[in-house]
Amino acid sequence: MKEQLQNIKETTLAEIAGISDAKALEDLRVKVLGKKGELTAILKQMGGLSAEERPVIGQLANEVRTEIEKALSDKQTALKSAQLAQQLKSESVDVTMPGTRFEAGKRHPLNIVLEDLKSIFRGMGYTVVDGPEVEETKYVFDMLNTDEGHPARDPQDTFYITEKILLRTQTSSVQIRTMLKEKPPIAIISPGRVYRSDAVDATHSPIFHQCEGLVIDKKVRFSDLKGTLEIWAKRLYGEDIKLRFRPHHFPYTEPSAEVDLQCFKCGGTGCPLCKGEGWIEMLGSGMVHPQVLINCGIDPEEYSGFAFGIGLERIAMMRYNIDDMRLLYENDSRFLTQF
Ligand code: DAH
Repeated sequence: MKEQLQNIKETTLAEIAGISDAKALEDLRVKVLGKKGELTAILKQMGGLSAEERPVIGQLANEVRTEIEKALSDKQTALKSAQLAQQLKSESVDVTMPGTRFEAGKRHPLNIVLEDLKSIFRGMGYTVVDGPEVEETKYVFDMLNTDEGHPARDPQDTFYITEKILLRTQTSSVQIRTMLKEKPPIAIISPGRVYRSDAVDATHSPIFHQCEGLVIDKKVRFSDLKGTLEIWAKRLYGEDIKLRFRPHHFPYTEPSAEVDLQCFKCGGTGCPLCKGEGWIEMLGSGMVHPQVLINCGIDPEEYSGFAFGIGLERIAMMRYNIDDMRLLYENDSRFLTQF
């Protein structure tokens, strides 16, 4: 029996030494010290020993048990601290490492220009309204006094969806929608995309952006249009900017004018930006044609108004000295992060 005990002790201690996980250690404990364990089985046989042998074997059994228990508990402690060390190692954070940098987005130059426009006109009491890009010919042309034969309606230049539905070629359609819906006084701007069948090059794109303006009230005069656009230009380019109104023709305004700004690069002496002209064409405008008012149920004897259409790309390109329109649409962050 002595040998058996000695044997159990040695093999168990050897096994404990070789164990490297908690589960195996617990299994071993049950196998040796559990109710049906090896050591327990031996102790149960002690009843058959002689009176002299019993205390000797009993003491030895206790020593073996104590030793095994101690070995088990030492091993358990060792396993725990090894696990902790491992965890600390794998979860450690080097606070001196460089962090992950998140790139902040930037506003697109066209949006910057648009926000400026909105804020300038809101400051003058205008409301910003929206209109559909897929539009009916009656709003884009007919009611704007632009009849069938007009070159602006040419299918070569315009994306028709059906004979009567197209991608709008100008934001002026929103004038009609607004006048049909609202009673004067009206003061709105309406920015948005417009579409023309142009080949892409440095100054053309089949999709570009305009901002329409419309004011209808009693006794609105051409001088109101001039004053309004002057304020707009000064807010945008500074107090010294000069405007030039050039007679023009639009079917929906009478009289009509194209508006040039004095080149803010050269101050009017002529440079590559203004192509030596000293002036840069910025927008179309005029007094709303009486027929357009009548088309929308507004009495031209009682009301008058002005309208204008500004190209946003032109403003952005002038302001930021961008020489190729394509840059505005290519989404190249090397370009876009500059603004
Ligand atoms: N619709 C014109 C264009 O696309 C711009 C324009 C001119 C708008 C005169 C107007 C206007 O409202 O009165 O070139």
